[in-house]
Amino acid sequence: MKDKIRVGYVGLGGRGKGQMSLSLEMDDIEVVAVCDVYDDRVREALDIIRQKRPEIEAQGYADYRELVKRPDLDAVVVTSSWQMHARIAEAAMRAGKYAAMEVGGASSVEECWRLVRAYEETGVPCMMLENCCYGREELALLDMVKKNTFGELIHLDGAYAHDLRDEITGGLIRRHYRFRNFQRRNGDLYPTHALGPIANMLNINRGNRFTMLTSMASKSRGLHDFAVQKYGVDHEYAKINWNEGDIVTTLIKCANGETIRLRHDDCLTRIYSRELCVRGVRGMYQEDGDRYLIEGENPWPEGSWEPKWMKFSEDLPKRDHPLWKWFQQAGVKGGHGGMDFLVQRAFFEAVKAGTQTPIDVYDAAAWMSITTLSEQSVAMGSLPVPVPDFTNGLWLDRGPDPKSRYALDAVHYDLFD
Ligand SMILES: NC(=O)c1ccc[n+]([C@@H]2O[C@H](COP(=O)([O-])OP(=O)(O)OC[C@H]3O[C@@H](n4cnc5c(N)ncnc54)[C@H](O)[C@@H]3O)[C@@H](O)[C@H]2O)c1
Repeated sequence: MKDKIRVGYVGLGGRGKGQMSLSLEMDDIEVVAVCDVYDDRVREALDIIRQKRPEIEAQGYADYRELVKRPDLDAVVVTSSWQMHARIAEAAMRAGKYAAMEVGGASSVEECWRLVRAYEETGVPCMMLENCCYGREELALLDMVKKNTFGELIHLDGAYAHDLRDEITGGLIRRHYRFRNFQRRNGDLYPTHALGPIANMLNINRGNRFTMLTSMASKSRGLHDFAVQKYGVDHEYAKINWNEGDIVTTLIKCANGETIRLRHDDCLTRIYSRELCVRGVRGMYQEDGDRYLIEGENPWPEGSWEPKWMKFSEDLPKRDHPLWKWFQQAGVKGGHGGMDFLVQRAFFEAVKAGTQTPIDVYDAAAWMSITTLSEQSVAMGSLPVPVPDFTNGLWLDRGPDPKSRYALDAVHYDLFD
């Protein structure tokens, strides 16, 4: 077990700077290398390090291939644009450094295989930093699923539903990668905030796997309408033909018979939601409306047309995952309600201990592949598309993940005593 680890960050936009700043608040983490293709972002990141941790001598890079070569680095955190995640993570693994990638979808199935091969050839772990896997509600639900509270699972819904019209249409001014993705692609570009927690509940790659999907995209109007309102009808942004459908719906089938419905929904005015819905034979949870019910616990009132349900937020203290109870006692910190902190710690604890990460390369490949497969299905009029088995059969009988407080395949209550 290492006392301290040395980390490099690649990609210093809003997310990279935010996550790097959070890492700098951890005494056992030294951010000694930062990289971006934009020099001003590198300088800004070095300033943040100087301010927060003056004892660290950090170096800036324009080329990630130089950064990963540093012999003193233990890990590389990739917070770049989506299309560079796998390339940079692969370079890190091949240089012998633990790799962590921010969330995003793959550009091709080959890209996912390259990640898997890099891991299998080097033995160096790669984790997707899917922070929503450590959200308070998602963790409570995972614990409930592991206790079989909802009975056998049948179907789950999830979404990335976030009004991002301003960020997307203003992408050229902000130097933000989403612009080109929405201009040129059409599919579920951002599946993992919902799919990661769902995959954990369904034991994907551990006795279960995604087998096929079909995707359908609506017409594209929202971004154009927004650009006309914000910039004026004669502005060049109002003349862009956006390819991404306003709402993309994807249905995924699993080997054990469950179905998943995902929605990508960033181009219309709306209220933020990940729209998580868990359906088992003996209970259900529904994020929108903050409701859940468990057969047996909820009486069906005489004469009513539906069973009585409970407010999930009110019951959370008694439903909390032990990791969250422990986190609350220690003092919740970090963005997005604390899950940014937990996902970083999950990665860094694995690096320090030299163990496998709780979200591994097979998870990253399977979750990321949904984007490119959804594009293929949309392009072919919603034809079903097979999801590759990135484990090459290991999913059938893989052993348990390393025992850890951050484990997502099981809940280890004894580690919280
Ligand atoms: N988990 C979350 O809650 C969350 C929240 C926000 C963003 N994100 C993810 O974080 C990532 C970054 O998002 P952002 O909003 O900061 O984007 P951004 O476009 O503002 O920043 C990305 C940065 O990566 C840099 N980059 C691209 N290619 C590079 C290369 N080859 N070498 C070095 N640097 C390179 C870009 O120059 C840019 O500065 C995305 O994957 C996004 O999905 C996650």
